[in-house]
Amino acid sequence: MLSTLALLASSRRHGHTGQLIDRIARELAVEVIDLAALRLSAYDYEHRNRADDFEPLMMRVLAHQQLILATPVYWYAVTPAMKVFLDRICDLLEIPELLPAGRRLRGKNAYIVCTSVCAAPAPQFMGSLCETFSYLGMHFNGVAHVNCGDGLAPALLESTAGAFATHVRQAAPAPLPD
Ligand SMILES: Cc1cc2nc3c(=O)[nH]c(=O)nc-3n(C[C@H](O)[C@H](O)[C@H](O)COP(=O)(O)O)c2cc1C
Repeated sequence: MLSTLALLASSRRHGHTGQLIDRIARELAVEVIDLAALRLSAYDYEHRNRADDFEPLMMRVLAHQQLILATPVYWYAVTPAMKVFLDRICDLLEIPELLPAGRRLRGKNAYIVCTSVCAAPAPQFMGSLCETFSYLGMHFNGVAHVNCGDGLAPALLESTAGAFATHVRQAAPAPLPD
């Protein structure tokens, strides 16, 4: 299996999304990093926040071939913690010494693991993440979504996590974008 890392960004560690990504991660034997447990400050045009946990986190991300972003849908979008993480990727595109690291995102497989109270994740949510992956040269390779309108049903958790884990395990390296 391609080496894989999961990032979780929910307002509760063991809520619906946390349970879903934990079940997937157990199946795949991959690490889940809880963004809420890190010191990640908002994007700063002057980059005065370089001493926080973002750069060490990115070094861990870049060591893997696949990245799973796990976030609930909050108002048709990712959570604030996930947005901060995505915003901070701009650091890798702007700070000269980090540019080589930024280029190493290209060609990685990217996945979305999400929960909401709708039958499918909001198109705006999916669209903004997929556009972001595309901009970064990453290959969007799949989504796992559970409708938690009636809570997180154990059978649905199991079937969704199992099918998604099989898909991630069988993934091939993405071709480098043009
Ligand atoms: C602030 C907030 C905004 C939400 N916005 C949406 C939404 O736009 N669409 C939706 O389907 N569910 C929405 N939900 C429901 C959550 O996506 C759903 O309950 C999810 O399973 C929560 O996951 P969590 O336990 O990891 O936080 C929202 C929940 C919260 C707390």
